[in-house]
Amino acid sequence: MSIAEIDKEYIANTYARFPVELVSGKGAILKDTNGKEYIDLGAGIAVNVFGVADDEWLKAVTNQLNTLTHTSNLYFTEPCSTLAKMLCERTGMKKAFFGNSGAEANECAIKVARRYAFEKYGDENHSTIITLKNSFHGRTIATLTATGQDGYHTHFGPFVKGFVYAEANNLDDVKRLAEENNCVAVMMELVQGEGGVCKLDKDFVDGVKALADEKDMLIIIDEVQTGNGRTGSLYAFQQYGLSPDIVTTAKGIGGGLPIGIAMLGEKVKDVLVPGSHGTTFGGNPVCCAGACNILSRIDDELLAEVKAKSEYIFEELGNAQGVKSVSGLGLMIGIETEKSAKDIVNACLQKGVLVLTAKTKVRLLPPLNIGWDELKKAIAILKEAIAE
Ligand SMILES: Cc1ncc(COP(=O)(O)O)c(C=O)c1O
Repeated sequence: MSIAEIDKEYIANTYARFPVELVSGKGAILKDTNGKEYIDLGAGIAVNVFGVADDEWLKAVTNQLNTLTHTSNLYFTEPCSTLAKMLCERTGMKKAFFGNSGAEANECAIKVARRYAFEKYGDENHSTIITLKNSFHGRTIATLTATGQDGYHTHFGPFVKGFVYAEANNLDDVKRLAEENNCVAVMMELVQGEGGVCKLDKDFVDGVKALADEKDMLIIIDEVQTGNGRTGSLYAFQQYGLSPDIVTTAKGIGGGLPIGIAMLGEKVKDVLVPGSHGTTFGGNPVCCAGACNILSRIDDELLAEVKAKSEYIFEELGNAQGVKSVSGLGLMIGIETEKSAKDIVNACLQKGVLVLTAKTKVRLLPPLNIGWDELKKAIAILKEAIAE
């Protein structure tokens, strides 16, 4: 049986895979079984910020693998303490909880908000969380409920209580929901990734912040996709002038290994106590050693490069034939095209470029350090695929 046939026979049928078997890679170049090379503008869906098999990250990970792999959370280990300190120092957040995925980071955020409400009001009646329509927060039952897209909800009910959905960029709608419910928090992505790479307006975010201050609601920012340099700052909230109460992240900070983090601000930093939350693999030394390396290299120089590459892509595609509009921030880019996004992705695949979709758009999430030559070549191929 071929790998594709074994996959079909033995793996749960949750992914519509492309007819390609990838076997190796370096940086922004991936290779398939036939030796064909692809320029990667997807980075494993915003994960490989320094591309595949990055030397420095590999060194950090293999050193740790050879030293101490897993201990459980019953003992202190250095990599997770170092990572938490680095994150707090660079974000102004106060404590970190480590899990294994974006969904788990958001689960933690939801639990922290609920426990904060319970401690404050002594009952469960003040725990509603406002999320935004068109959002995506994960696929566990609670994060699926938080996700404001009906398409993801079909066939998985009943859902958990305590979520209401506001129109993105509609402050009146957020105000209305805050009036009608006993809300503890507003949870949002600053650029809705899976929802089509839609950026929130700064005015809207400022309005939500003012409302949250007035109503004592927590602000939870989901930076699973926007985080870790992707939008041109370490975290997108830093560009919006926010001091969130909870920030969640995952994907890029793992550099290719699973990690999810909920960072807690001053108001909620002590909400979690021993026994209130946990996970076996959370804070795994190998994942954390790799993440320390990734985080230490997301510096001003890299962020300037992200901005320059972003400008280049916006300029190249802005007026390109077959392009209706370009949206996003930094190297998180959505392209609305005249042709179907799926056809463009398939044409790019044939021509040796990997791109993604987000709803009806073509989505780009390249490695942040992709070489200029590779980027220019890939964008030229993408433009060709969009135009033809
Ligand atoms: C904004 C956002 N939140 C949460 C998630 C869920 O992350 P994970 O797939 O690691 O559980 C994703 C995944 O795409 C995401 O984009």
